[in-house]
Amino acid sequence: MNHAIRFHETGGPEVLRWEAVDVPPPAAGEVTLRHHAVGLNYIDTYHRSGLYPVPLPSGIGLEGAGEVTAVGDGVTDLRVGDRVAYAGGPIGAYAQNRNMPADRLVKLPDGISYEQGAAMMLQGLTAQYLLRRTYRVQPGDTVLIHAAAGGVGLIACQWAKALGATVIGTVGSDEKAALARAHGCDHTILYTREKFADRVREITGGKGVPVVYDSIGKDTFMDSLSCLRPLGMMVTYGNATGPVAPFDLSLLAKMGSLFVTRPTLFGYTAERVDLVAMAAELFDVVGSGKVRIEIRQRYALADAAQAHRDLEARKTTGSTVLDPA
Ligand SMILES: NC(=O)c1ccc[n+]([C@@H]2O[C@H](COP(=O)([O-])OP(=O)(O)OC[C@H]3O[C@@H](n4cnc5c(N)ncnc54)[C@H](OP(=O)(O)O)[C@@H]3O)[C@@H](O)[C@H]2O)c1
Repeated sequence: MNHAIRFHETGGPEVLRWEAVDVPPPAAGEVTLRHHAVGLNYIDTYHRSGLYPVPLPSGIGLEGAGEVTAVGDGVTDLRVGDRVAYAGGPIGAYAQNRNMPADRLVKLPDGISYEQGAAMMLQGLTAQYLLRRTYRVQPGDTVLIHAAAGGVGLIACQWAKALGATVIGTVGSDEKAALARAHGCDHTILYTREKFADRVREITGGKGVPVVYDSIGKDTFMDSLSCLRPLGMMVTYGNATGPVAPFDLSLLAKMGSLFVTRPTLFGYTAERVDLVAMAAELFDVVGSGKVRIEIRQRYALADAAQAHRDLEARKTTGSTVLDPA
């Protein structure tokens, strides 16, 4: 019998339940997947807690990798046995088997395992658009990346370094600082102990940085703004400490004609042509060895609640995969 993690009310990790779920034959435009690995992402905790509301009851999860086991009408470019991966909706990746729209899937290259696919699609495509489209990192730039030892963080630090940037990363512990330095960070700041904005000014000789990639949200937003040089770009793309409060836009003028954007991966991958091009670039940078995908935690899919606890307690580093076997 197929099983999936579902939740019937929002709340803490305890609302996640392991349930038997039917998988109907794929509808037109869909395929059925047998997951070999499922990705854990911070956004899953926002769905579970209700920060990002979803209709209930609901499945959970936006990332997986597996093989195609059935193909619906009208699907021409996928066959039974193809190895595929995805990042995005419909919600419900925490499942052994599921149906997915075929146009949201990309084929995994031979050199990339299912586990790597599930570990890199959402966090890696996010790093891709952040560094290559939202603010295009140039050689010689100094960039600030928060939560540098996290899932998105470890990928983004390596990639920014490969693009020729000097990378400043914030981290919550000494162990995380060492890990970030081993993955492209030139400077690490323990923002739990030090005022990161002061350190960024010091490191940049008072100039500030052209871009801050901030996934922390409420607690860091204002200090992140003050790290920017004039005309700098504040990329606020996550809420690990809660959503950023409304603020007076005239502050941006006073602080140096700054730009602020609040992007999501799903906006950047809405068109299939973009999804495919972004995935190709991600697979290339991983294939070349410039970016390593570090799977640092593994849990049984049935133990997803524990994975959520550890993620929210800042106990994880790099990427985490859930095993549906
Ligand atoms: N907008 C998008 O397109 C997009 C896409 C993917 C991810 N995201 C966002 O990017 C962020 C990173 O996602 P991820 O899946 O890679 O997670 P992650 O970075 O592996 O985990 C979150 C990290 O945030 C840091 N953090 C700081 N304060 C925290 C707090 N109070 N509670 C929990 N964590 C705290 C922790 O690192 P330290 O201990 O080192 O501080 C923690 O390890 C999330 O905010 C997520 O929502 C956004």
